[in-house]
Formats: sequence, C-alpha cells, structure tokens
Amino acid sequence: SSSANAVAQGLGFEPVMTNRVDTVTVPKGYRATPFLPWGTPLTANAPEFRSDASNSALDQARQVGSHHDGMHFFPIDVKKGGDSSVEGLLVMNHEYVDPDILHSDGPSQPPRPQDEVFKELMGHGVSVAHIRQQRGGEWILVKNSPYNRRITGNTPMAMAGPVTGDDKLITKYSPDGTSTRGTINNCAHGFTPWGTYLTCEENWAGCFMNDDSEQPREHARYGVRQGNSRYYWETAAPASDDTDRFNASILADSPTEDYRNEPNHFGWIVEIDPFNPRSTPVKRSMLGRFAHEGVVFAPPVEGEPLVAYSGDDARFEYIYKFVSAKPYHQATASGDLLNDGKLYVARFNDDGSGQWLALDINDPVFMAQAQSAGVDFATQADVLLNTRLAADVAGATKMDRPEWGAVHPQTGEVYFTLTNNTRRSEAQTDAANPRAENAYGHIVRWREAESQQAEHFAWDIFLLGGDVGTSTPDTAITLTEENHFACPDGLWFDHQSRLWIQTDMSGPTMQQGPFGNNGMLAADPVSGELKRFLVGPVDCEITGVVTTPDSKTMFVNVQHPGESSGPGEFSSHWPDGNGLRPRSSTIVITRDDGGVIGA
Ligand code: FEO
Ligand code: CA
Ligand code: CA
Ligand code: CA
Repeated sequence: SSSANAVAQGLGFEPVMTNRVDTVTVPKGYRATPFLPWGTPLTANAPEFRSDASNSALDQARQVGSHHDGMHFFPIDVKKGGDSSVEGLLVMNHEYVDPDILHSDGPSQPPRPQDEVFKELMGHGVSVAHIRQQRGGEWILVKNSPYNRRITGNTPMAMAGPVTGDDKLITKYSPDGTSTRGTINNCAHGFTPWGTYLTCEENWAGCFMNDDSEQPREHARYGVRQGNSRYYWETAAPASDDTDRFNASILADSPTEDYRNEPNHFGWIVEIDPFNPRSTPVKRSMLGRFAHEGVVFAPPVEGEPLVAYSGDDARFEYIYKFVSAKPYHQATASGDLLNDGKLYVARFNDDGSGQWLALDINDPVFMAQAQSAGVDFATQADVLLNTRLAADVAGATKMDRPEWGAVHPQTGEVYFTLTNNTRRSEAQTDAANPRAENAYGHIVRWREAESQQAEHFAWDIFLLGGDVGTSTPDTAITLTEENHFACPDGLWFDHQSRLWIQTDMSGPTMQQGPFGNNGMLAADPVSGELKRFLVGPVDCEITGVVTTPDSKTMFVNVQHPGESSGPGEFSSHWPDGNGLRPRSSTIVITRDDGGVIGA
C-alpha cells in the first residue's frame, strides 16, 4: 500500500541518542516536566501524597492512580465544538500496581490485609483531571473542580450490548446480570467522536482464580488462574464481597450466591463520560471480550457506519474490527452506536491481501466453521463472551501480540504495533509475522478496500524493530543510531499525521539490549523519516501520548519507572530523586520557542 494522498510533514528536531540515565531526555530546545504523578491529590478533600507510601486505601481512592497508561486530552469546550489548547480534561488509565512500591514495606503475605487489597484496587482504573495552562506556560491541576474524578476497581458500572442480562453474568452482586463493579488492568484507551473516553481491560484474567476441577471456557481460554490470583485479592481479611469476587470457583448452590461468573464481567471496553462526573461507566460488550489493549476509531463519516479497531495483547492472539449497525450522525451519536453491529477478526494472507471474518451468530459461514470445529455458540452473547474461541474457529491470523492501533487521519490506513513474541517458531512464521523468536517486534499496516467498513484490505509491513542495520523490505527503512528500537507498543497519529511510536521492552531486551531505556520515536510515514524523540528513566515503559489541538503541548506517560525494585530498594528514583520511591507520572513536553511538537 502507499500513502499517495498524504503529504510529508518532516521531523524538525535533533534525534536523542539511547541512554540508561534515570531521567527523561528530550531533544535540544524541548523541555519535559513531570505532572500528576501517582498519589497526587485529585478529588476534593484528597490528602497529600506521603513519600513513604503510607497513604491508606481511602486516600488512594482520591489520589491519582498508579501505572499511568493510555490517555486523552478533551478540550474543555469540545462539546460545544471548541478546541481549547489551554484548558481541558486529561483522562488517563492506571494499568496496574506494584505492591513493592505501593505499600511502605511491600505487600504482606496472604491472607492479605483488607486495607492493602483495597489500596491496590483503588490504584487501578482511570483519573479524570481538569487541567489548565497558566500564563507563564505551566500546566496545573484545577483544584476542587467538579470534573476531577477517580474510577477504580470498585466503581459501580453497567453492562450494555448483547451480553447484558445473560445467565453467565449472574453474580451475587448482579442477580440479573446487568450491573457490575470496577475496572482493572486498564492498558490503552480510546475516545469516541461524541466526547467520551474508553478504557480497555487487558491483563484482568490473572486477578482471578478458579479452583474447580474444570474451568468453563470463558475462564480457561483467558488464563484465569488456579490456586491463587496474581495479588491474592481473594484472601483479603476480613473478607468482603468486594474481594471475595476474585475467587470464581463454584462455592454455593446458585450463581446468585457466589462469584463463579465474576470474570465474565471483565475483558471489556468501558465507556466513561468525563464531562458528567455522576455518570455510570458502561461496559460495551459488542466490542468483544479479550485482553483489550486499546481501541481506535477511523475518522467518522456522516451517514456511514462507525468503524473501530482493537488488539488482543497476548501471544498468538488477534486484531479485531467493529462496524456499527446504525450509521453515524454527528448530531445524535452516542454510546448506543456501540451496542449493535458486527465484530470481525483479521486474516492476513501471505500474498498481501487480507480479510475481515465476521464473528456473528447470524453468519452461516461462521456458524458452519463453528460446527465443523465442534464448538457450540447458542447466542451472540455466547460468541462475545468467548471472542477468542470465536476467532480461532473463524481462522484468523495469530499475531505477535497486537498492542495499539492508529488510523492515518488523511489516508485511513491503519497501523498496528506487534510488540514481540519470542515463542513463535520458524514453522509458525507467516508473511505478517515473519520472524521466529520475534524479540524486537514490528508494525503492520493496511488499507481497507472500498471504504473503511470493507471486508477486504491490502497490507504490508511498515517497520521491523531491531538493532542498527535492520531493514524493512516493504518500506526500505533501515534503522540507524538515531532510531533503532524494540518492542513498539503505544502508537498515535498527531494532528499533522506524524506517527509517534512508544516502546515497552522488558527482560533481556531491556536490560542487555543495545537500545538503552524505553522511549519514543516519531515517524513520517510518507518520507520514511524516523527519529528517536525521547528516552525515559530507568526500568520504565513509555506509554500514552496526546497533544493539545494546537500541537504545542504534548502529554506522555512514564509507566513503572524502577520496575525491578524490591521493597525499600529502588532501581529508579524518578521523578522525585533523593533516594525516594519511583512514581509513574505524566510528563508535559513543550518547545522553548512555543512551536509545534515534532515539527
Ligand atoms: Fe498493557 Fe499490552 O500493554
Ligand atoms: Ca501497552
Ligand atoms: Ca506492552
Ligand atoms: Ca512494561
């Protein structure tokens, strides 16, 4: 495919070289300022952050959460058609917690004290922060703004779409299967054309355990654990419904008396209206159930169906596409558009063509495939609760961990990061996942056939990650000291169609590789220009990026600095220094001359 209808924008900054310094490095003429770190008092009456992490669960529920990830800037006047670049709602995900850092002396042994477990649940979720730029250029949190809000692992929510009220959603908390509680493992995000935020539930399965001799497919296919959950939340003492629910074993006579179905309430995309602080978040089940990394919409077209893409970040999982049943109309569009439509999964053929395969109870091809695979689907709710199994049945292409997607604002081409997959064998390679033991990842892209909702596309590989000298045959981009990278994760097109690529290396690639700390690059997909723009502090990943509409302020998230820390022994002290514990944080990036970021 080509970028024929797009114009090269150029990258005007001097590239940053790799390093392993415990700070944020940006190009000459730019500055990066930490903003809204974990623990910042957010809502009314929130207490100050205590640097020894002795804040309580209730404190954490009013403070900025942990492990910042995907985020969006909503201009304060966007619902009136405005595009303020000096005031807005910065809405961000808090993916998970590191108990070694979250608690003063690390986590207690199980059974876990209830207050510790509650603090961990409050560290997850979403922050809505009303922010404003001062005359001198500094960004501040608007204290006591009614918009400032925390959404946590315990916030009451509603189910919407085909699974609502299904038998497999019945729990002690939700006897009719329509209500639910909490969102966790909020990795990347999305935002709708009607001004709402979407948070995506990724590695939720590990937060549950189910010790039944046979787990139902809704649990087993997603990695619900046996024995204990990741953080032993189910052992919280004293026990409560808020924590008992992480044990999904059958413990009573009826699903209204236990939490056997609680994991079925997770793995969804959750819609939040940041402009209505009293609104109930809604889980939009028509977008499928998996380890949702994020969701990205194609630019909406008046009178046409709305189209969105979402990746399932696990080895050998899939890329999905949603097409709304009803057409998009700007004047009336709302979350209802997400309740009805078709969910597709991608097949990448080796000849560069591709196909969207419908996961639809009314599609005779899909149902025949299910039958020949010996898989029963009774309803569309059943298909959606078992989205991964449905995609297996349909014959989708198993990818190298799909992370973020980005849609080119002019061409509609879709770019997707495939972060890595060291378990792919030579025999398992295909044209779209061409490297065995793929430690460095790549970026695939495609162009839909006749329109964004088409069922066919043409694809190529935009970029292969790797050391200096790595070359991508399809685009003839060869990596140099100015841009070699590994493990692409965050991906975003800015308002001038520059593509921002964020990295999330871990393990040996991070510790011993030639890449230094995780960072961020900018690419011009038209010219093939690619430059490293930012290097983060020690043991972090860089994830989440957005600018103001004028492109003069960029917000980037630094997640898990000091990831390899133990209690009291920190491998990073960013951003506070002075031997203090590391804190995930947003950074505000501006240019000394007030210019457009990246230009
Ligand atoms: Fe949470 Fe797939 O990164
Ligand atoms: Ca990610
Ligand atoms: Ca990642
Ligand atoms: Ca990481």
